[in-house]
Amino acid sequence: MANRVAIELRDDVYRRPLETATERLGIGTGWKCVDVGAGGGDVSVALGKIVGPSGRVFAVDIDPQRRDQVAEIAARETQVIALTQAAEEMVLPEKVDLAFCRFLLLQVIDPRRVIERMASVVKNGGWIVIQEAITSAGRVGEAPISALSSSMKHPDIGIMVPQLVNRLGLEMTDCWAEAPVGLGDTSVSRYLEAMTDVLVVDEPVMLPPVVTTIARVTT
Ligand SMILES: C[S@@+](CC[C@H](N)C(=O)[O-])C[C@H]1O[C@@H](n2cnc3c(N)ncnc32)[C@H](O)[C@@H]1O
Repeated sequence: MANRVAIELRDDVYRRPLETATERLGIGTGWKCVDVGAGGGDVSVALGKIVGPSGRVFAVDIDPQRRDQVAEIAARETQVIALTQAAEEMVLPEKVDLAFCRFLLLQVIDPRRVIERMASVVKNGGWIVIQEAITSAGRVGEAPISALSSSMKHPDIGIMVPQLVNRLGLEMTDCWAEAPVGLGDTSVSRYLEAMTDVLVVDEPVMLPPVVTTIARVTT
């Protein structure tokens, strides 16, 4: 598990893909959402701010400690509700307009099953947004950053998500990749240092691109 500094930096360096996704999809006030594998709740809070007091965000994570962290946030962002559940068995009190996950599928045994479960909690005509990395595509200069993928079950799941979505019969409406790049002492180099203990300031660093896949759920 990444340390606290790495988690905070991750939210910073991957904030832009999150914003691109929420803007392209046009998430609005009053939407009901679930953030699956919510971790410390960064995505949940970002969604909560968009949907406003009339909306709702369920923050689902398998780790009960995560629920406590999110519960703290939920005290401020009242529309965020933390639930301890496995994504594979997720059950929500109501259907949602959007099921979102970021950096979850690379950790689970069966990513297909998680996507299927996400689709099952979405209303007819609602959306799934999946943001997953292609870890092996990160670079220091021209060399791959191999150290980042060592503990993951599916380090390159990002590139496979469109196919998984397609095979489940979901309609993929948009898909793209974004990668944070930095040179010198930036949040990019500091994130890499937090993950690998190696600080690189004299060469360009490209962190693993995150592939965003948007699919519509019709039942
Ligand atoms: C790398 S963190 C990502 C957190 C957050 N989505 C983000 O982007 O900042 C992955 C999270 O998924 C959770 N997780 C792992 N396997 C899970 C599962 N089967 N069901 C639900 N959550 C799971 C972990 O506890 C962890 O909090």
